[in-house]
Amino acid sequence: MEAIVIQGQSRLQGRVSISGSKNAVLPVIAACLLTEEECLFDDIPRLTDVDTMCDVIGELGASVSPHGVKGLRIKSGSLKNIEPSYEYVRRMRASFLVMGPLLARFGRVKVYLPGGCAIGARPIDLHLKGMAAMGAEISVNNGKVEAVAKKRLKGTSIYLDFPSVGATENIMMAAALAEGTTVIENAAGEPEIVDLANFINAMGGRVTGAGTRVVKIEGVEELHGHRHSVIPDRVEAGTFMIAAAATGGDVLIENVIPHHLKAVMAKLAEAGVQMVEEDGGIRVKADLPLNAVDIKTLPYPGFPTDMQAQFMSLLTSAKGSSMVTETVFENRFMHVNELKRMGANIVIEGHCAVVKGQKKLTGAPVKATDLRAGAALVIAGLMAEGKTTISCIHHIDRGYEDIVGKLSHLGAKITRQEVE
Ligand code: UD1
Repeated sequence: MEAIVIQGQSRLQGRVSISGSKNAVLPVIAACLLTEEECLFDDIPRLTDVDTMCDVIGELGASVSPHGVKGLRIKSGSLKNIEPSYEYVRRMRASFLVMGPLLARFGRVKVYLPGGCAIGARPIDLHLKGMAAMGAEISVNNGKVEAVAKKRLKGTSIYLDFPSVGATENIMMAAALAEGTTVIENAAGEPEIVDLANFINAMGGRVTGAGTRVVKIEGVEELHGHRHSVIPDRVEAGTFMIAAAATGGDVLIENVIPHHLKAVMAKLAEAGVQMVEEDGGIRVKADLPLNAVDIKTLPYPGFPTDMQAQFMSLLTSAKGSSMVTETVFENRFMHVNELKRMGANIVIEGHCAVVKGQKKLTGAPVKATDLRAGAALVIAGLMAEGKTTISCIHHIDRGYEDIVGKLSHLGAKITRQEVE
């Protein structure tokens, strides 16, 4: 079994360049299914989730090939299949994003229900509600959703009970080829939604309001190919900022859009971390110990749920007690037990976790239970005294491009190793 092994307590120093955003690249790959023309992407992050999304559309009949050093060339001419296999949907929930584009372009799609996952039940009711409102007939049998649109989908007004990122993206893609105008009320406003809207618009679509709670999509007859560069990954950037701060380091984070990170930067500043925009990046500097701070996860522009676990690692050694409240997912404290194994003092009360700081973490064998929990353990391992061995690192490979190489470059003693 491959593991990440960290010898802790090195102060991170130097420069690190952030890769393209995982959560932005997955929907734009799905959106290539909206056109028969070729789409090109520059600088795609090397992540297993990206490989899975390429496998999904490849299985449907799209041609996917390299473009330049790190890019992709995708052409979804005539597809042979409208049903991704269970293996992919099981592996990655975002596979469900093919539903909107396939339904809009071919009038039919069958997708397995993504099922539960470690961080909560994560239903897809809002995706289905949106497609049904646009005129699709939806049935669920044998764990599979079948959506059929006998006529072209029709624009309508859709209110989301929660600003779901995936539902907003799926509905936007379906609406892009629908007849008339669709208005999504209480839409998600994450930067990845704006990136998808920019991609659809560059393909000839008409999306306005992306990034706000009301997104309007005027359907068009057809979309054409486009060459696109995805935005930098704000979660990877935030993870490196926290790692720098938690080790009392001094790191310049390059290829980052600071306003995507406002909530994380506000909380780091409250903890006593110094951040300045420098050389087109953000320089993060910290003297330990940091201050305790309370955080509460919320849809964007609130504090991202995808940064909660990593921030909690930092809080384990802060001065005083911090309250961490998770409001987006119902079961996203899987990392707590692992952090406790490293000596953290954390008590969970429902959706809240109280982190009593000033605990010196000690290295231990721990297990990544999901992607961001894995990143939290990497940060904890960097902070801890002694050796930490993180297993189940396939979770980390889903969303962090070469995390070991990038941290080594900053002076961390970190390697990938085969262990028993
Ligand atoms: C996306 C991100 C993920 C991030 C999450 C929240 C991608 C590939 N993944 O996931 O990294 O953690 O946003 O910022 O972009 N919900 C429903 N019904 C639905 C859909 C969602 O009840 O039909 C609930 C979910 O169970 C969850 C909440 O809404 O509690 C947020 O989920 P959502 O925003 O849809 O997350 P994803 O798009 O799956």
